[in-house]
Amino acid sequence: MSKTNFGKHSDFVVKQENPFNASPPVKLLGRSSVTPTELFFVRSHGDVPMVNVDGYRLAVNGNVSKSLSLSLNELKNNFERVEVSATLQCAGNRREELIAVQPIPHELPWGVEAISHAAWVGVRLRDVLAAAGVDSEASLHQHVDFGGLDEAERLNTRFNFGGSIPLTKALNAEVILAYEMNGEPLMPAHGFPLRALVPGFIGARSVKWLERITVQDEPSQNYFQRHAYRLFAPQIGPETVNWDEGIMLSEMNVTSVICSHVEEEQVASGVVTVQGYSIAGGGRDVMRVDVSCDGGESWTAAKLLNDAGPWAWTLWKLELELKPGKYQLVVRAVDSAINSQSAEVAQVWNFKGYMNNAWHRVNIIVE
Ligand code: MTE
Repeated sequence: MSKTNFGKHSDFVVKQENPFNASPPVKLLGRSSVTPTELFFVRSHGDVPMVNVDGYRLAVNGNVSKSLSLSLNELKNNFERVEVSATLQCAGNRREELIAVQPIPHELPWGVEAISHAAWVGVRLRDVLAAAGVDSEASLHQHVDFGGLDEAERLNTRFNFGGSIPLTKALNAEVILAYEMNGEPLMPAHGFPLRALVPGFIGARSVKWLERITVQDEPSQNYFQRHAYRLFAPQIGPETVNWDEGIMLSEMNVTSVICSHVEEEQVASGVVTVQGYSIAGGGRDVMRVDVSCDGGESWTAAKLLNDAGPWAWTLWKLELELKPGKYQLVVRAVDSAINSQSAEVAQVWNFKGYMNNAWHRVNIIVE
């Protein structure tokens, strides 16, 4: 294990040392419905802060009748402990495929592995908001803004990472302030001592090293809500962008990925087991995963392997009998709102490289 990998698996693939961004090798991803913490991907925009829990306080302020300042122990002792099984996925997952269509400068070229699943423990955000006297009946149009302790630098300015979610989402039982992940206190790289966990939403809203929660009338003015993590039309680029026109990303879209094979892999003829993950955002379920071995001409439904609830990815598997030759494996999924995926990556290209949910294709050679 190298010193710089924050206690992660020795095979963890470091995409960027500083800030630390890393992910598991694709073949180790999705082997079990819970990702071992040492393999859970890390996405950070600034240095990982090493927080001394003795001096740590969480501030709750803004449109509240009683501002709060809570230590970690006060949070643990004063609010009900709950567990949520949830998958986190970065909006930039699968950007590498978009980059192959047209370059996307200054953004991380994630493969298919900016996604992982954990069992999280913490307290319900809505219980903390209730303690601060948030009047949910009167103020459902509001937003809950999260501020992190880490600093990022953009547009020649240093500022803390942040982002917000609508109050309507914040009041749902699945949204928690998490202090444990897979039975252990959060690792520093995952937000020790406390992070927001917003299942069903893009990972950016699950703010790590949480320092402040502000209830406010507007979405967050933080760079990572106001500029980044917005979806723009394909014709928009850095020169023509009007940042206010992008769609502020919140719920994930349905996607599916092959993890068992990599591009141009050579495999033995006979039974070839194709495996991977699929996820539907916003609490929707993955209803069907189709796999093709002929580039999308014909399809067979894969077996869905786990049912870990609405906030979890679905792992899937299909055994194919393949003779020697060249094959293009393809996967696509349908969710419970009958959302499906675009056939071509070019159809979902956008200049920030978010939300790529095109059919995932892997060419293999069977010998
Ligand atoms: N929170 C803070 N404070 N700083 C960050 O850089 N990155 C966000 C989110 N929360 C980030 C953050 C993004 S983009 C993602 S995808 C998830 O954290 C990743 O969480 P993980 O590193 O625990 O996998």
